[in-house]
Amino acid sequence: MSAPTSAIESVLIENRVFPPSDAIVNAARVSGMSGYEALCAEADQDIEGFWARQARSHLQWSRPFTRTLDASNAPFFQWFADGQLNASANCLDRHIGTPTEHKCAIIFEADDGTVTRISYRELLARVGQFANALKAHGVAKGDRVLIYMPMTIEGVIAMQACARIGATHSVVFGGFSAKAVHERIIDAGAVAVITANYQMRGGKELPLKAIIDQALALGGCDSVGTVFVHQRTASACPMLAGRDKTFAQALAGQSSDCAALALEAEHPLFILYTSGSTGKPKGVQHSTGGYLLWAKMTMDWTFDLRPDDIFWCTADIGWITGHTYVAYGPLAAGATQIIFEGIPTFPDAGRFWQMIERHRCTIFYTAPTAIRSLIKAAEADAAVHPARSDLSSLRILGSVGEPINPEAWMWYHKNVGGERCPIVDTFWQTETGGHVIAPLPGATPLVPGSCTLALPGIAAAVVDETGHDMPHGAGGILVIKRPWPSMIRTIWNDPERFKKSYFPQELKGYYLAGDGAVRSTDRGYFRITGRIDDVLNVSGHRMGTMEIESALVAKTDLVAEAAVVGRPDEVTGEAICAFVVLKRLRPTGEEARQIANELRNWVAKEIGPIAKPRDIRFGDNLPKTRSGKIMRRLLRSIAKGEAITQDTSTLENPAILDQLAQIN
Ligand code: PRX
Repeated sequence: MSAPTSAIESVLIENRVFPPSDAIVNAARVSGMSGYEALCAEADQDIEGFWARQARSHLQWSRPFTRTLDASNAPFFQWFADGQLNASANCLDRHIGTPTEHKCAIIFEADDGTVTRISYRELLARVGQFANALKAHGVAKGDRVLIYMPMTIEGVIAMQACARIGATHSVVFGGFSAKAVHERIIDAGAVAVITANYQMRGGKELPLKAIIDQALALGGCDSVGTVFVHQRTASACPMLAGRDKTFAQALAGQSSDCAALALEAEHPLFILYTSGSTGKPKGVQHSTGGYLLWAKMTMDWTFDLRPDDIFWCTADIGWITGHTYVAYGPLAAGATQIIFEGIPTFPDAGRFWQMIERHRCTIFYTAPTAIRSLIKAAEADAAVHPARSDLSSLRILGSVGEPINPEAWMWYHKNVGGERCPIVDTFWQTETGGHVIAPLPGATPLVPGSCTLALPGIAAAVVDETGHDMPHGAGGILVIKRPWPSMIRTIWNDPERFKKSYFPQELKGYYLAGDGAVRSTDRGYFRITGRIDDVLNVSGHRMGTMEIESALVAKTDLVAEAAVVGRPDEVTGEAICAFVVLKRLRPTGEEARQIANELRNWVAKEIGPIAKPRDIRFGDNLPKTRSGKIMRRLLRSIAKGEAITQDTSTLENPAILDQLAQIN
């Protein structure tokens, strides 16, 4: 990476540009802006022909498709619909008989540092065997399987095995509560659950199976016939005879040969629940063909993957990033990848850097929140500074999940990337399946804090509320004007919500991302300005304010009313702030602290620890308009500690603002 073209050093100025060095450009798959522009032009000339060519060259089809896009039932778009393929075959079988067959597929580093390696050949055998176990327990094409697993090779095997037999998986992050798991089992109508006895994080053994037991005990889960339990640790966990099977029991006598089932391209590969504007999470449904095409293609485009790369995406398989860039993309691309069980701060905050050195990682993909917390740790303790590790193997860095602030970008660039590695700031969402706005490392000049330009064929734009283009420099709503292969297909069980959430009528059929954005006047680069709906982004995790409010008011003995907003936070991006009216007198001092803790624990039980509000403020009431609407923008100002400068004349009870502004 060459030196910044501007000499201004202040990290607050965002007009510095970092073009890729000539060496990087010359070696890249998509080489220079001319390479990027040629791809864009090719796509714009004949969008269907472009995707058809990509789909034929990147994927192996059991039955070739003859039709690329079917828009007859828009916005329920179908891609490659008369073609058949299998995602697992495209991740594993395709490498058999090639030099990749005996290549290491996964380097697994456990929480305690134990390293296990598995080749493509071995992974295929283990996936085949587990797929046979699923079949032997009655799991069949079209069934839904809920996966609640730690970051392990077995987690990937579980997903791949479902894909192999056409069962639609729904992975739930191991930090979600029994209640959240229960809601997802019911909504998905899961026939089986795959879990582990415990997960290891930061030296602690945390229960998983016990949470599944609690979830199933909440009732209405009769659809679940089997619970498969991976024995991750030596500790025993209760097993229900007839229903629960250890992996060892389920796999006994099963052959490792399981032919991958040819599936229609539109067959739902998975459902992944994510937060939206209402209290109920949305089951985002993805396809087999279009989704996998994206997972594979973006490995090539955004990460410029080479055969000798050691790829590491730190995301958990419970999130979309862990689906596309752990469970599917790297395998479809034949990469060697690192999977890490633990947390970045155990045994110390140098773990990521030490692991990069230990495994000679070349592409490192993580979230800004992790970078920011490791900056803090490195500044406080030189022993965990990246400078202590040999990071010379790195060639590309990535960022995902939330906007990366220029300060963190610069630190990452300098201290991790040694000022030579391009940083790909990838904008995307659970719904987009993979990257949609991102630089190409051998082409795009980088600007800290900007995810730069749309990938070829992606018609991203910034528009106003009626779908008209905003001029560059003016903020607006981020949309994608044309369908693309890896887009969300529907919301499981709720097609109406799908249409309303993503294709509102006033936006002319454009896909509504739910984020605000602005394009720079010089280059047209996108900068994401944050969600425009009631969705928060806490440590790169999406949380609906309504979900947290519903959880709080579900504590019916205590809570009368609650409103939740976000406030900026240096490390987590946003922090959750709850304004709560109790059914009893407003508490202060120690009592307020105690009740706030009780409410935090309650929310952890209802949703999961990630949803715990950071701040809880108690009031006699909430600021409301005369028509009874809660004025959230005022609450946002209070949460930030700002003086209220907005017009409060429509407020029913202006005095409440002073009360809420006091820290209880
Ligand atoms: O607000 C955007 C933010 O994360 C949201 C999507 O969250 P989720 O579906 O959980 O997927 C996260 C991982 C892809 C977006 O609507 N977001 C994601 N990546 C970026 C981002 N905001 C700014 N820059 C990014 N690179």
